[in-house]
Amino acid sequence: MQANALNGSNVETPVAEAGSAGNGRIASTSKSTLAQAPAPAPSATASSPPGEPSYQSMDSEELSALEEIAEAESESDTEIDRLLDAAADTFPPETVSLLVKDLKQRGIVYFLRTHVVPDPSPLRIKHLLLALGVFLPRSIRDSDVPIDVLLPILKTALARILRRREKLPQYNTVADALSLISTRNKIMILSGAGISVSCGIPDFRSHDGIYASLQSEGTYQLDDPQDMFDKSYFLTNPSMFYSFAHRIFPSNFTPSSTHRFIKLVEEQGKLLRNYSQNIDTLEQLAGIEKVLQCHGSFASASCTDPGCGYRCKGSEIADAIFGKRVPRCPRCEERKGKEEKPSKKRRKVGNGRSWRPADDSDEEEEDDETSLPGFGILKPDITFFGEKLSSDFDHALLADREEVDLLIVMGTSLKVAPVSEILGHIPHSTPVILINKTPVLHLATDIMLLGDCDRIVEYLARKLGWNLPPVQPSKDVVGSRAAEQVKHKVEVQDEKAEVGVESGAKRQPDGQGERETEEEPERLMNSHAWLFKGAEPGRLPALLAEMEEEDEDDSEEGEQGSDGPDDAAVPDGPTSA
Ligand code: OAD
Repeated sequence: MQANALNGSNVETPVAEAGSAGNGRIASTSKSTLAQAPAPAPSATASSPPGEPSYQSMDSEELSALEEIAEAESESDTEIDRLLDAAADTFPPETVSLLVKDLKQRGIVYFLRTHVVPDPSPLRIKHLLLALGVFLPRSIRDSDVPIDVLLPILKTALARILRRREKLPQYNTVADALSLISTRNKIMILSGAGISVSCGIPDFRSHDGIYASLQSEGTYQLDDPQDMFDKSYFLTNPSMFYSFAHRIFPSNFTPSSTHRFIKLVEEQGKLLRNYSQNIDTLEQLAGIEKVLQCHGSFASASCTDPGCGYRCKGSEIADAIFGKRVPRCPRCEERKGKEEKPSKKRRKVGNGRSWRPADDSDEEEEDDETSLPGFGILKPDITFFGEKLSSDFDHALLADREEVDLLIVMGTSLKVAPVSEILGHIPHSTPVILINKTPVLHLATDIMLLGDCDRIVEYLARKLGWNLPPVQPSKDVVGSRAAEQVKHKVEVQDEKAEVGVESGAKRQPDGQGERETEEEPERLMNSHAWLFKGAEPGRLPALLAEMEEEDEDDSEEGEQGSDGPDDAAVPDGPTSA
């Protein structure tokens, strides 16, 4: 079982952290995915053709809810057999395994276009779902539900299969990681809050992260600290966010060695794209060009009234943020001044239909968004829980999955979808290197380099014979004066380190000069995990020890002439060197 947890082959744990329910005033919201409730689950496939690219709105919790209903209906064995036989007539097991293989390699969009669009009959989709192991409630199974109800269910079921990426057994060592980085030329880098921690910006989920601080301070009386970034909360009480935002607004921060490493990969002509979950705009300060800020950033702000459309630079709301004031939208204010009516199209809080079985209370909870205090004010263009990511994310991923030949995941807990699901959406044959302080156990990665990411990338750069580049900020970052200051600060740091940018990999971020001895990472047992300075391996050593014991037991059983384990049931251990 632990082996499965490590190689991801049979991970049952949902990819995303289960969030608490919402505040009750507005439609409840789980924080497991930014695009999840109250965003419309079926929109990605229902309102658009099934092959339309979208990697969002795949809500595994809703699928589980349907499956629970189906289970509670407790069909007779005869009925179950009848259904499975009917499904197997259309999709025999060999076909299903080929389809799953195709899905893992070619992706969800290709799958839908190739295997569903040409014959999208509801009955066929129901059979496909059954063949994939999804048992639907009677209300869906036995009625003429339209295709736009079934497609989102199918899409979510496919996404769940994709989440079960298996570790590639041929990649395990630091040498493998170095060889991959030096030979691969289309490297995708998925980064998170951990890469900005050394810049003085706390991450979210560490014991000293933003959520833990919000919880322990208790200032905001939040049921769940993640509600600070919840769209519904924001609309109801924007002053709460604005009394906090100054703590995360990018000001006076300097890119870390890890940001510079990403730039270095770009300079080597190897960066396919940096998918950043960070909102701190440090990528721009480091001069990284091929970056997609998946959760938006503070670089711009927009009016929360979609009918208004006012958008401005993030720097324009900086004063309000530091003054802990809610920034008004100038266009809406002007309109109000002229006593014109603002765009008062009644908008439901949250939105859309859901394929969750109808719940009458939904109707009662429908609120008029326009009457909320957060309507018609400026909000930084960061993606809150309950908001969809920009369609740039879908388009970029659709294109990049065809090219990517290596994925490096850095400084992220991979707990927030849809970004965390990138691992499943790229071809499962693409190697994945994790660089993180703590291990990620709910998704399979091939090589885990654990420790402080700055130390790790400095090590890698040194071994590769590459030099960390100087900081070359892009012009369009928040406050260009800040950018110049940062550039100067890093130049001084590099000079102080006496090795300068020429051998930047040897410098320490604190400018204390060269390290006395080069520290080599320690291999955790015989696994694919390597410990660098700052690693917090948590329960990984215990899991590996248990696995080793299980392996020994298995081999003893084998020697005693037992039937031996079924090959297919034994996961490829992560320990092969
Ligand atoms: P998390 O806080 O969830 O995860 C940060 C990860 O970085 C953790 O696994 C840490 O162990 C690791 N880490 C911390 N310091 C590190 C260091 N010096 N070196 C290496 N690793 C380190 O942050 P994200 O995964 O980025 O959404 O969170 C994803 C999203 O959840 C964020 O974008 C944010 C949040 O809610 C929005 O703001 C919209």
